[in-house]
Amino acid sequence: MANGHRLVTLPSHVDERGTLVVIDDTVTPDFEVRRAYVIRGVPGAEVRGAHAHRELRQIVVPLAGSFTVSVDDGEQTAEYLLADSGVGLFLGRMVWRELRAFSEDAVALVLASDRYNPDDYINDLSQFHDEYAAQIVTMAFL
Ligand code: TYD
Repeated sequence: MANGHRLVTLPSHVDERGTLVVIDDTVTPDFEVRRAYVIRGVPGAEVRGAHAHRELRQIVVPLAGSFTVSVDDGEQTAEYLLADSGVGLFLGRMVWRELRAFSEDAVALVLASDRYNPDDYINDLSQFHDEYAAQIVTMAFL
């Protein structure tokens, strides 16, 4: 399913030499990765994200430290604590997300289905709800 949000277990190989976490196309069946970026050094009081994407799909992986991701899919809200590099969070189309409570050492890896495109962003929560409602109405008539 290309929409919604869910935790994704990443195959981890642990032995006495340490841990190796794999992210391949079995982990991202909803999209092919076309971009990766890293977020780090976020002061504890700062909020990242605070937007939704109309088309972009992403997986957020906490490579180090921890942070929370609050989501609103237009119907319901939820909050995820990401604190294990072996567990990522899939974010499908049309999911409002806010990342906050970054630990000092937090490093987030974000894998995305497309290149950076400012036109794909919805930066206002009430506009997000309006567009979500309009989509539901459109689907009801298809
Ligand atoms: P922004 O979208 O505000 O980050 P976040 O959603 O994590 O709060 O992006 C911060 C800046 O980086 C902004 O100037 C746009 C730029 N940027 C790129 O140039 N390429 C990218 O792939 C991303 C995600 C951001």
